[in-house]
Amino acid sequence: MPSLRRSSAKSSPDPSFAALREKRDPLEDEARFLRSWFERPLVTGSVTPSGKMLARTMASYVDPRLDGPVIELGPGTGPVTDALVRRGVAQERLILIEYNPNFCELLARRFPRATVVQGDAYAIHETAGPLLSAKGAATISSLPLFTKPLEQRLGLLNAAHDLMQPSAPFIQFTYALVPPIPERCNAGSYMASRSNKVWLNLPPARVWVYRRP
Ligand SMILES: C[S@@+](CC[C@H](N)C(=O)[O-])C[C@H]1O[C@@H](n2cnc3c(N)ncnc32)[C@H](O)[C@@H]1O
Repeated sequence: MPSLRRSSAKSSPDPSFAALREKRDPLEDEARFLRSWFERPLVTGSVTPSGKMLARTMASYVDPRLDGPVIELGPGTGPVTDALVRRGVAQERLILIEYNPNFCELLARRFPRATVVQGDAYAIHETAGPLLSAKGAATISSLPLFTKPLEQRLGLLNAAHDLMQPSAPFIQFTYALVPPIPERCNAGSYMASRSNKVWLNLPPARVWVYRRP
C-alpha cells in the first residue's frame, strides 16, 4: 500500500528552488546513499547520488512550459528533483515515488510542496495514478532498471505512457552500455533517443528518452 507524505506547507512567493527548506550537504547525501546501498544494493542501484551534470541532462528533456504533473521514479536524495525545480518545474507539479522511507522523509523536507509517495514505482498505476489531476507531462526515472527482467521494464514504460500526454517523454538514465529497453522491443511502439555520455558523473552515464510516435 503506497503511503503519501504530502507536506502541508503553504505556497510561498519565493521561486521554488530558492525556497528549498533544507540545505543539501553533499557529504551527508553520499553517506545516506552508501548506507542505503549497503542495506539494499539492488534497490538502491548505485553507491552515490547522481552528479549535477547528469541530473541537469535528465531534466533538460522536460519542457517546463508543458502543463501537467511530472512524475519522478526513484528520486533518492533528490538531485534530479532539484534539477527539475531549477529548470522551472513548480514543486506542486512533482509526484515523487520512492521506495526508501528515509529518502521519502528527506524529500518531503527538501521539497515541501511536492507530493512524496512511499511505494513501488513499478506499480505506477496504483502509486501515481490516483494522484494525477491531469495526464502527466513527463516521467523521469532513476530506477535501477537492469535489476528487473525486460518484461517488467517494458511494463513500466507502457504503464507510465498510459498516464501521460501523447508526446510526453519517459526519461531514464543508465550506466550500462546498452539501452534499458532494447531496440527490437521499441520498434513501432516507441521512438528512442539518447544523450551523449555524461562523463562528469561517477560512473559515467547516459540518458535515454522514450516517446510514443
Ligand atoms: C540509482 S538511485 C537514484 C537516486 C537519485 N534519483 C539519484 O539520481 O541520485 C535509485 C533510487 O530508486 C529507488 N528505488 C529502487 N527501486 C524502487 C521502486 N521499485 N520504487 C520506488 N523507488 C525505487 C531507490 O531507493 C533509489 O533511491
